[in-house]
Amino acid sequence: MLPFAEARLARVPGALFLGARAGVALHASQWPGLVCVQGFRPQAQALERDGFAVRDDIDALAGDAGWPLVLVVPPRQREAARALYAQALALAAPDAMVVSAVPNEEGAKSAEADFVRIAGPAGSLSKHKCRVFWARAGAGGDATLAAAWREGDAIREVASGWWSRPGVFAWDRIDIASALLIEHLPDTLAGDGADLGAGTGVLAAAVLRRCPQVRTLDLYEADARALALAGRNLAALGTKASVGLRWHDVGGGLPRRYDFIVTNPPFHAQGRASRPELGQAFLRTAAAALRPGGALWLVANRQLPYEQTLGEGFAEVRTVAQRDGFKIIAARRAA
Ligand SMILES: C[S@@+](CC[C@H](N)C(=O)[O-])C[C@H]1O[C@@H](n2cnc3c(N)ncnc32)[C@H](O)[C@@H]1O
Repeated sequence: MLPFAEARLARVPGALFLGARAGVALHASQWPGLVCVQGFRPQAQALERDGFAVRDDIDALAGDAGWPLVLVVPPRQREAARALYAQALALAAPDAMVVSAVPNEEGAKSAEADFVRIAGPAGSLSKHKCRVFWARAGAGGDATLAAAWREGDAIREVASGWWSRPGVFAWDRIDIASALLIEHLPDTLAGDGADLGAGTGVLAAAVLRRCPQVRTLDLYEADARALALAGRNLAALGTKASVGLRWHDVGGGLPRRYDFIVTNPPFHAQGRASRPELGQAFLRTAAAALRPGGALWLVANRQLPYEQTLGEGFAEVRTVAQRDGFKIIAARRAA
């Protein structure tokens, strides 16, 4: 918001903010008609609480060009960031300003270099360990490259019958921790289950393939794009259990109770720093949502301090395996 606060750039009513993040610098009163695009549920809810209109996916805006100002906070994953810059330029009206900001530690310099390649020469400012840079749509830049980058985060089949796209968790591989959990999941999980932070559905698919006594399986995921992919991936399995897809902030608890829960909880937010409290919130949510005797199966980085939280929420906590710096834990609620 710095170039606007310093009046180097003008705020324009009815602007578009891709990857919008709520915060003290963003006041609804200063941005009449701003439309925010944010697919990460906790952020989307924070923006709504601050009075903004929020859409969960930029794909729904395709063809809706002509925005008078476009703001962009790109994701970390490079193809996804490049695709978002290309989409921002395509959505902007001719001559409209496209403005982006990136923290230095999240690769501000290379993000700016990418932006300049397709937008042309950019103005920029650097403060608070961030860079903000801007250019007018249509003011130069490589249009052919922009068209190629626009397709860079397209949905694709990354393994037989498995669909993904850059930007979602471990988009082009099975995460090594998740693979270890899959190796140790028992085939006796039964009844109503949930996968917390389900991503594209890797753990859920393993449960559905392996555990014939599962009646329902709800996937809770904050990233709208990952959840949509999970729906597609699991539908293709054609298993008889009924699958629920919930765009949901797991930190806020679950709306119903379960016989079992599987999870590879997040322990990073936007930055690089480890945030064990994210995973701990997942474990508290799991404890509160399990029926008496219900089981939690989880994988975590071995260093993560989850033991105390597990001890508080569960009657029995067992380390089932340790390998490659990860631990598999099975915990049970009191019967
Ligand atoms: C370590 S990944 C595991 C993904 C998937 N289960 C797998 O094994 O590949 C954690 C997932 O939790 C999601 N997540 C992060 N914070 C969340 C929250 N507050 N509520 C729900 N999901 C969240 C992330 O988007 C990510 O997909």
